[in-house]
Formats: sequence, structure tokens, C-alpha cells
Amino acid sequence: MYEATVSAPVNIACIKYWGKRNTKLILPTNSSLSVTLDQDHLRSTTTSRADESFEKGDRLWLNGKEETVKEDGRLGVCIKELRNWRKVEEDKDGSLPKLSKWPLRIASYNNFPTAAGLASSASGLAALVASLSKLYSLPQTPSQLSLIARQGSGSACRSLFGGFVAWREGSNEDGSDSLAEEVAPQGHWPEMHALICVVSDAKKGTSSTSGMQRTVETSTLLQHRLKIVPGRMEEISKAIKDRDFQKFGEITMKDSNSFHSVCLDTSPPIFYLNDVSKSIIASIEELNRSSGEIVAAYTFDAGPNAVIYALEKNIPKVLGVITKFFPTSEENSDPFGTAAEALPEGY
Ligand code: PMV
Repeated sequence: MYEATVSAPVNIACIKYWGKRNTKLILPTNSSLSVTLDQDHLRSTTTSRADESFEKGDRLWLNGKEETVKEDGRLGVCIKELRNWRKVEEDKDGSLPKLSKWPLRIASYNNFPTAAGLASSASGLAALVASLSKLYSLPQTPSQLSLIARQGSGSACRSLFGGFVAWREGSNEDGSDSLAEEVAPQGHWPEMHALICVVSDAKKGTSSTSGMQRTVETSTLLQHRLKIVPGRMEEISKAIKDRDFQKFGEITMKDSNSFHSVCLDTSPPIFYLNDVSKSIIASIEELNRSSGEIVAAYTFDAGPNAVIYALEKNIPKVLGVITKFFPTSEENSDPFGTAAEALPEGY
């Protein structure tokens, strides 16, 4: 039996991806840019196994629960493409074991709530693609692998890199240039921290897939947003390279608000923020106003949870404001070592 285990962290977008121009290939209506969080906190860990003796058909467990792998579903497509790449290597080198022909058993774990607007699909699909790439010893680069991860879940393509990552929308019809690229490596800006405020870990009401589709079909504001984003991509990339937190924070908050405005402009409207989220926005805005500079920048994905970026020196100030909303803090438990332990017996 051959086995590989890989972890991939969550990424949080500062310039949001919202809208597909091709739903099958998952080609976005705009480029996006994110920060990949450290491995030690929010991450997905995936173990993939291939064995000749496994019963026919691929099987997958997510957080211990078996999910169906549909051949033409998003997971199935990722597996198929990676298998094809393995097959190419086997054809080149006849001595390689024929892993491409063997059934797979895959187990994946998130050490945080799934589908609560904490980008679990991003880390999950990235870990899956990375673990299969390791299992198959593929020569492809992370950018090439991002073409596959993108087809599993758009934002997953960005989790194949650490640090600051851009997903270029690309212009080719076949999606061959819609890939992730590093803007700055992990460790480029060590003073920058992300504070994750879990307002609710309930599953979100409107999935990103159906939300995006509705927005593309009904929002006129989206057309305006699409004109603004390219400039923001340039500006925030420069701010990251220059370690300019003022500019970084300004653009991050603006883009989060622009994304949620577009959701509100969707018909029927989509509400991802709740009253606690809005109070966090108001408090951070007030903190920045009273400090005379941007000391913290909030951003919200498709859910009510806040991610707050701040420089290390300002963390105590930010925590002072935020603990108002989260008076008790439980230790973040991390019970999952490797996902392999969770594979049912015999796999
Ligand atoms: O990749 P998806 O389908 O989970 O969409 C993610 C969308 C946002 O998280 C709201 C924005 C982003 O760029 O991550």
C-alpha cells in the first residue's frame, strides 16, 4: 500500500472572489488575493492511500463521515485529473508502480468547524490535491496543481501556497491560465497577524456556490465591482511588498464591504453578516478613527465570522476591543494528528 499525508492551511481573502464566468471549470469573474494562515492553527489534514487490493471505486471520509465521490462531481474531477498526470509519469517510466489504476481511500479532517465561513473547502481541497500529488510523486509545481484545486473549490487554489497569494482570473476559455501565484512568501511580513473571531460556527445559510450564481444573475452592482477590483489587486500587492499596513488595511476593509454590498444587491438578498459582525465593524472603525491611523483591518467571508488583521505591536489594543464581544475564550483544541488514524479499519 502507498500512503501520503499532507496538511493545508486556510486562506482568507483580502480581495474577494465572488462570481464565476464558467461554473463547470470554476473560472472567476475577478482575480482575488489572500493571506494563507499558519499551518499550526486552522488546517485540513488529508491522508490518501492507494492499494491494488482495495475494492473497486474511490472512497472518501470527511471528518470521519463517508461522502460519496461522484465521478463527474468536483472531487471526482480533481481525482481524475491527478490520476491522468500520474498515468503520464507511469507511461514515461515503465518501472513505476501503476498507482493510477488502483482505487483510493482518502480521509480528511478539519481542526475547525466545517462550512462556517472559515474557508474549510479551501484548505480541504488543497490538502486533497497536495496529498494525491505526493502519493503519486507528481512533478507539477504548486501553480500547476492550483489549476486542479480550483476545479474542486475556487478559493482552494490559493491554499497551495503559504504567505500572500493571488489567483489570476486568466482569459483562456479552457482555464489554463486561471491559477494561483505567490505575491510574497510566508515570513515576508512576520509582524502581521490574523485574529479569527468565531461569531458562529453554525453551517452557513447560503452556500458560496448558490450565492455567487444568484449574484452573477441578478446584481447590477457586481458589474461596478468588477471594474474596481483590478486596480485594488495592483494596489494591495504593492502594499504587501512595501509592508504598508495603512494601505493594506484600507483596501482589505473596502473590499470586504464591497463584497457584502454585492451580496445585499443580489435578489433575493444574501445576508452573511449578523449583528455581532456589524458591531465588530463599528468597533474597529472607531478604534482606527480614535487612533488616527489604521491599526486593525476586518474582513468577512461568506459567514458572520470576522478575521482581523493587525500588526503585532497593536494586538493588545485590538484584543481590548474584541474581548468585549468574546468575553470567554476557550483554548483552541486541536485533536487531529494525522488523518490516517481516522481511516476505518482495513483501509
Ligand atoms: O471557493 P468558495 O466557493 O468557497 O468561495 C469562497 C468565496 C469567499 O470566501 C467569500 C471569498 C474568497 O475569495 O475566498
